[in-house]
Amino acid sequence: MPHPQLLRVGVLVSGGGTNLQAILDAVREGRLPARVVFVGADNAEAKGLERARASGVPTFVVPYREILARFAADPPPPPPPDFSLAAARARQRLRPAAGDPRLDRFLASRAAAEAELLAAMRPYPFDLLVLAGFMRVLTPYFIDRVNAGADPPRIMNIHPALLPAFPGTDGYGDTFRYGCKVAGCTVHFVDYGEDTGPIIGQRAFPIEEGDTLEAVRRKGLEHEWRLYPECIRLYAEGRLRTERRVYELPGGRRLTRTVVVIVPGPAIPPGGPQR
Ligand code: GAR
Repeated sequence: MPHPQLLRVGVLVSGGGTNLQAILDAVREGRLPARVVFVGADNAEAKGLERARASGVPTFVVPYREILARFAADPPPPPPPDFSLAAARARQRLRPAAGDPRLDRFLASRAAAEAELLAAMRPYPFDLLVLAGFMRVLTPYFIDRVNAGADPPRIMNIHPALLPAFPGTDGYGDTFRYGCKVAGCTVHFVDYGEDTGPIIGQRAFPIEEGDTLEAVRRKGLEHEWRLYPECIRLYAEGRLRTERRVYELPGGRRLTRTVVVIVPGPAIPPGGPQR
């Protein structure tokens, strides 16, 4: 019988899955009160699928490339019957910006893939969806159906940069090429923008003179492997909540931002301090 207090975590991957492995290891070693209930991928070659199978976790693949290719045709196929372009348009905070004709096709094609993703996830009830190197943008169609109004939100992502710097697909590369002296990684909740959601945790490390991009990536991943299980653990312990903050800025401007508040917990977690 599964332990009733274990957080049920679903994981999505696109590639190597070393973050998935770090989560599986943390679960196995009792550092994370969770169990991984499925691992899904957007391509059958994702090595993370093998890692999941080796741990006895059910897997599935949603062939994004094939699904999206169908939407290159003219006219494109119909989107899912429950997809509302107006609602998706109004909520999304993605590029291409609103008004760009490519946006509609982008939103409809993603919704088609996301409908298949939702169907593949349906047999596996979960509490938290963890993106571990899942290299696909998720749109409001999917996000709203997973969150269903939950607070804290139910989708977490790890990004290889100190957000809000360097969103996108090559965080360490962008950090390195910019000439930054510090690099880092960020775990955040997923919102309607690309890598814009409320930040849960970050780790920074220096870029030393002589470091190659490969060295930065390697160091960064080692930080990710510690940070991600820690953030999931906070979620499992019910210590994350979001708060809408309003700031008055010079010139009468007003900034509103949803931030994560970490509720204080035991100074030393059960099972000993994290390394
Ligand atoms: C990690 O560096 C992760 O931060 C990054 O992909 C890598 C996946 O490695 N994610 C993104 O760039 C998301 N935009 P892994 O498959 O070995 O965990």
